[in-house]
Amino acid sequence: MAEAQPGVNAEQTRGAIFLVLVVRPGPMHAAQARNACGDLDALTRAVGTRDVNGNLTCVLGIGSAAWDRLFGPPRPKDLHPFREFRAGPRYAPSTPGDLLFHIRAERTDLCYELAAQIMARFSGHVIAVDETHGFRYFDDRDLTGFVDGTENPSGAARLFATLVGDEDPAFAGGSYAMVQKYLHDLPAWHRLSTVTQEGIIGRTKLDDIELDDSVKPAFAHNALTTLVQDGTEIKVLRHNMPFGKVSGGDAGTYFIGYARSLQPLEAMLEAMVIGRPPGTYDRLLDFTHPITGANFFAPSLDFLASLTSGEPPALLTPAAAVAQARAHPEQPGALKIGNLKGVPQHE
Ligand code: HEM
Repeated sequence: MAEAQPGVNAEQTRGAIFLVLVVRPGPMHAAQARNACGDLDALTRAVGTRDVNGNLTCVLGIGSAAWDRLFGPPRPKDLHPFREFRAGPRYAPSTPGDLLFHIRAERTDLCYELAAQIMARFSGHVIAVDETHGFRYFDDRDLTGFVDGTENPSGAARLFATLVGDEDPAFAGGSYAMVQKYLHDLPAWHRLSTVTQEGIIGRTKLDDIELDDSVKPAFAHNALTTLVQDGTEIKVLRHNMPFGKVSGGDAGTYFIGYARSLQPLEAMLEAMVIGRPPGTYDRLLDFTHPITGANFFAPSLDFLASLTSGEPPALLTPAAAVAQARAHPEQPGALKIGNLKGVPQHE
């Protein structure tokens, strides 16, 4: 099988940056962005060797419309725009995104440095629609105080859950990613009793033990996101990260789920928003809501290698990389929903 991008299945790290870009309209920008995609592996290695214990990885994901613009046919079988879900006040919106860079490392400086090099390399050809800097919060906890990631699959089960296989041989070794940026109402959440919070998540807060079925509510987050199809539990891999500002700004969870198809991720989200059965929805959504939603395909390393020109990419000094990334008016920054004038709405 073709080799997967190492970041998909790498272990949790202390830091992460999620960078979502839209490629400017026109064939020239698409061609330049495609070339830059071919340089990503070399850029990551160049920055990563500055501290090999930093475990720097970067997964590149391509959005549905961007795939056709950048690469043409064939396309990954299951790649399609984000499916929106809505029920009552709950809404999981679809937002623009052609390229996802999921950068992770033990050191935030490594993440920052690679993000700056990437922005410099793509600069002029893309518009940054979201940049989120995540951090690990105590014992792998979300800002809700609950450990996040416990039931992730490991070992062979992880590879089976995340990597495309014989079902789409041309894209074997690739992986689908779904991302959503959630903003929490933390004051309201923290007004709940711990017992109520535990019922909403489906696990105990302090020691992270799954609630017994006899006491776990049907609406618990881990009940609704447990997916059983034809008697088999279908797993996905989550690398969520908390992010936030304390001075009145936004704080929440950047959700990222990897799977060998988008279907299980969509089924989980549908159960959360609509409910299973309808109405038995995820009460977590009374305290948090997504402001972005996008799907990507992270092709294998072999696919990315086929895009390289053979020339090593120019690695800028850190200051020059940041300066070049900033030389264009489209700054990476917090996504302002409803303020995406000039961003092509592909999906
Ligand atoms: C604000 C957003 C979210 C937060 C704070 C959150 C938090 C959590 C926490 C604390 C757990 C329990 C520990 C664990 O097993 O990891 C969990 C489990 C899980 N979550 Fe989420 N989650 C969020 C969104 C989502 C979304 C959007 C999906 C899928 C589309 C999802 C899928 C899962 C799955 C599959 C599990 C494991 C269920 C099990 O097998 O027990 N989560 N999540």
